[in-house]
Amino acid sequence: MKNLTTNQIREKYLKFFEQRGHKILPSASLLPNDKTVLFITAGMQPLVPHLLGEPHPEGKRLASSQKCLRTDDILEVGDNRHLTFFEMLGNWSLGDYFKKEAINWSLELLVNEFGLDPKNIYVTVFEGDKDAPKDQESIDIWIDAFKNVGIDASLGNRIYAYPKEKNWWGPVGNSGPCGPDTEIFYDTGKEHDKKFGEKCHVNCDCGKYVEIWNNVFMEYEKTEKGEYKPLKQKNVDTGMGLERMAMVLQKKETVFETDVFYPAIEELQKISSVEYVYQKHSYRIIADHIKASCFLISDGIYPSNKEQGYVLRRLIRRAIRHAKMLNTKKDFYVPLVKKVIQIYETAYPELAKKQNQILTEIEKEEEKFSKALSNGLKYLKNWGKKMGAQTIDAENLTEKEFGELAFYMYESYGFPIDDTIEELNNMGWQFDKYQVRKVAEEKFEKHREVSKKGAEKKFGGHGLLLQTGELKAADEEELKKVTALHTATHLLHQALREVLGKHVQQKGSDITAERLRFDFSHPEKLTEEQKQKIEDLVNRQIQKGLEVKCEEMSLKDAEKSGALGFFKDKYQGIKKLKVYSIGDFSKEICGGPHVKNTSQMGKFKIKKESSSSAGVRRIKAVLE
Ligand code: ALA
Repeated sequence: MKNLTTNQIREKYLKFFEQRGHKILPSASLLPNDKTVLFITAGMQPLVPHLLGEPHPEGKRLASSQKCLRTDDILEVGDNRHLTFFEMLGNWSLGDYFKKEAINWSLELLVNEFGLDPKNIYVTVFEGDKDAPKDQESIDIWIDAFKNVGIDASLGNRIYAYPKEKNWWGPVGNSGPCGPDTEIFYDTGKEHDKKFGEKCHVNCDCGKYVEIWNNVFMEYEKTEKGEYKPLKQKNVDTGMGLERMAMVLQKKETVFETDVFYPAIEELQKISSVEYVYQKHSYRIIADHIKASCFLISDGIYPSNKEQGYVLRRLIRRAIRHAKMLNTKKDFYVPLVKKVIQIYETAYPELAKKQNQILTEIEKEEEKFSKALSNGLKYLKNWGKKMGAQTIDAENLTEKEFGELAFYMYESYGFPIDDTIEELNNMGWQFDKYQVRKVAEEKFEKHREVSKKGAEKKFGGHGLLLQTGELKAADEEELKKVTALHTATHLLHQALREVLGKHVQQKGSDITAERLRFDFSHPEKLTEEQKQKIEDLVNRQIQKGLEVKCEEMSLKDAEKSGALGFFKDKYQGIKKLKVYSIGDFSKEICGGPHVKNTSQMGKFKIKKESSSSAGVRRIKAVLE
């Protein structure tokens, strides 16, 4: 096995495919063109139109190392393999070569260029189901390919078949290109850890087998109805996790000990009073989150209360909280940012050009958060002392009480629920964290819907003026805008029911100072004419200057009055609900806030209408 640096792995991979007729593409931005997803999470995402058949200007064979960001398992970062930011090496055939070349090249690259012993390589394939047949072709190709390097393989011996959950990839989102895949694993030679099950197997999570490469044979398109249709062309889409490959080739226990992380961790050790070996979890979180922040800021994202900006804010705040646990100085991130820039200076020279901006954004966020953080932590500590002193009570603390505390921390100090859970665990409290999270979230929901004070409650240390699940505003100015957009949402809801039919029901809503986003049940794309009608109907209500009224009543009376409300189970057992009506046009159960009169709202405009999931459409609209 060759001990290659991450830069060498990247270069060798791209050169290998360049020699086989591939054009090398630069990494696309972390921000996708397709606005329905927040980030690029796989190398193929920027290529979706071309996988569906649109010719690519650079030809039919492409390769790249793509920056990716995944946040679904952000709470797992800190173990030995989860990362938010990572690079994915990939090669693509857009209706050109298919399984035979892809599989043979994969093995050739791994064995000849990276020097892996083929004895340690294992693969999985798709076992077949009602949507697509068993991938016998890949099995046969693998058997031959292994034979060429002197290894005997067959199904059940080094080659294993699995169902869709394991060996099918895509689409990203609800619909798009997808297909069966074949995954390549490397046996690290570690002992199996029985914590993960009696017997080890390639898909076991114990760490003995590491998945290093995925070859997807994209020959299907999943439609919005959930059907699998053959694509016009048969594509290959592959993805190799660069950091994982580095971990294998550099013979490291985890990705954090490789050359793309360890130098940053060493910088952090210099300014921390706790060594890496004693507090790996915090070190890894900080190293991962600060690196991800560098790349996000360099792609033009800034901390904010919405979408990508909110993810960035969470990453920075979590890094700050963990830095505090390591007793680092205030500007712990400065040497880290500089190190990240240095590690990536050949592959991503644009980072260096943005150094000042990166540092300024993190500094600004730290200033905003540090006061709420200290006060919040102080509160938690005192709470812990008080409870700890009352030993009998402490033993009787239930998930409900921890959940209520997590909600309070969120409401008062802007601590995300999971961060409080993490802090409480660190303090030694033990509980079922999913149960605690559930209690806190339920409390949050209830608060959002029925709080007497409504959503206008001030959010203490966080500086958020308003935050319901639906609306977010950081200051008076934003509050005004989201309030008007909220009233516009009610008008839109009613207009949709009048123009499209009474089957339309609210499925989701999200409002920022810039726009409203409304998801509703409807089976098909809206026509231009329908959109125009809806827009006109909303604008007519705005021009009429309708009065907005709020009444309180029981659920029964609300239903009798004809008020819309599609989240009824949430209201069960609540004596008084708020019902907002806008003239005679709309009536809905809702927590508010709303404008007093529609004349104050401006002109309503639909910006985009798209699919949200099967049978659900999404409208984004603004007030101009
Ligand atoms: N798109 C495939 C993946 O992300 C290669 O695993």
